[in-house]
Amino acid sequence: MKRLAIVGLQWGDEGKGKMTDVLAKEADLVIRYQGGDNAGHTVKFESYTYDLHILPSGVIHPHVISILGPGMVINLETFFKEKKPFPKAVIKVSNRAHLILPFHKTLDAQKEITQNIGTTKKGIGPSYSDKINRQGIRVASLLNKERFIKEAEILADLHGISFDARAYYDSYENDILELIPNIIDVSKYIDEAVKLNKTIMFEGAQGVMLDISHGTYPYVTSSAPSVSGIPSQVGMAPWLLEGALGIVKAYSTRVGEGPFPTEIHTELAHQIREVAHEYGVTTGRPRRIGYLDLVSLKHAVRVSGITHLAITLLDVMNEMAEIKVCKAYELDGLIIDEVPAHIDDLSRVNPVYDTLNSFKEDISTIDSYDNLPEAAKTYLSYIAKQLEANIASISVGPKREQTIHLLNMWEVSRD
Ligand code: GDP
Ligand code: IMO
Ligand code: MG
Repeated sequence: MKRLAIVGLQWGDEGKGKMTDVLAKEADLVIRYQGGDNAGHTVKFESYTYDLHILPSGVIHPHVISILGPGMVINLETFFKEKKPFPKAVIKVSNRAHLILPFHKTLDAQKEITQNIGTTKKGIGPSYSDKINRQGIRVASLLNKERFIKEAEILADLHGISFDARAYYDSYENDILELIPNIIDVSKYIDEAVKLNKTIMFEGAQGVMLDISHGTYPYVTSSAPSVSGIPSQVGMAPWLLEGALGIVKAYSTRVGEGPFPTEIHTELAHQIREVAHEYGVTTGRPRRIGYLDLVSLKHAVRVSGITHLAITLLDVMNEMAEIKVCKAYELDGLIIDEVPAHIDDLSRVNPVYDTLNSFKEDISTIDSYDNLPEAAKTYLSYIAKQLEANIASISVGPKREQTIHLLNMWEVSRD
């Protein structure tokens, strides 16, 4: 396989950053295909920890070319700050990506007062809204200072906000001038890389349950993290994407508002949150904790055509006295196996659980599948069977080396 996507199958924070970093060892290009600095991808190795919000998680590997794709919304402040620790990294930015300007953050915060989605307040929704409303500002606008200033002031005016676009540009002018040679047509760049047989990873942010079309609308983000969104967002033919690795946390988490059928409301949630440091990397908010939800996972696997999985944070499951897995929902007395499309219905479902044996052992240093406790193996096979997918990797800790590989995704063929 030469072109592989990494996609979160829950509500984000599944460990996409870690798995992208692990697989990027063998990649030439890593492309973030959607979202912006609402993402928080933590990568750990040796004594280093990197919290990446906008850069692709391949950036730590010196040989990798990092690309911010056309489907992204980019906050220059975050971008310039985040790239500083990587002075030698080759980082390219799409000329068609849209900008998040300071007033987008203001608009996001204002809308939250009444809408209360629990957004990251990074201006994601307002920037994507401007794009869809055909009034947004692309990275290409930065190539001409006066043009940018004119466009940004018109846009701020449309929103009834005063904005000093000249002062804004001036404050980043040196960084912008340095960036200009790396502002590219990503579609063309990918086309050339494909012809040269380069290995390309597409790194998702958020997760399928936060997808604007397939997630728990309206409690979603404003982009399309699911696999089918990748080709259109990067400018590549769909059939060139050879596979996708679905990242699944061994339990569930969600940050922000919105229905979460398997949410745990007991002390156990607190315990897991502390052990696994389940706090948002971008906002510091405590993540809500829940049992694994196979109904939403089957939905995510289907809409994204997932055949291979990486199961992450399996080590944390030893906190659970019993492993509960939601296999169906009950709604108004009926048992259903699909995610209701209307938020009112989804808010009313009751999870129907299967209970599996738990394991108490510390598995964070185990490096082979055979050495995992029997109960952990049973849990893994149960998940694989239910989701009709193969497990390629198992993550038993945040570091690169705490990964058990059952399959090398780069060696998996498309059929
Ligand atoms: P992402 O947004 O999908 O990249 O995930 P985040 O990085 O936001 O959240 C995952 C968190 O779990 C991070 O703090 C990781 O360092 C950590 N992590 C990743 N894999 C594992 C694992 O297998 N076990 C444990 N204990 N932590 C993990
Ligand atoms: P990564 O890439 C978890 C959530 C927010 C909110 C909703 C909309 O680290 O998995 P937005 O600011 O995007 O308009 O917020 O989406 N959200 C995330 N939750 N992980 C993320 O990213 C998220 N990015 C956005 O909490 O509920
Ligand atoms: Mg995250």
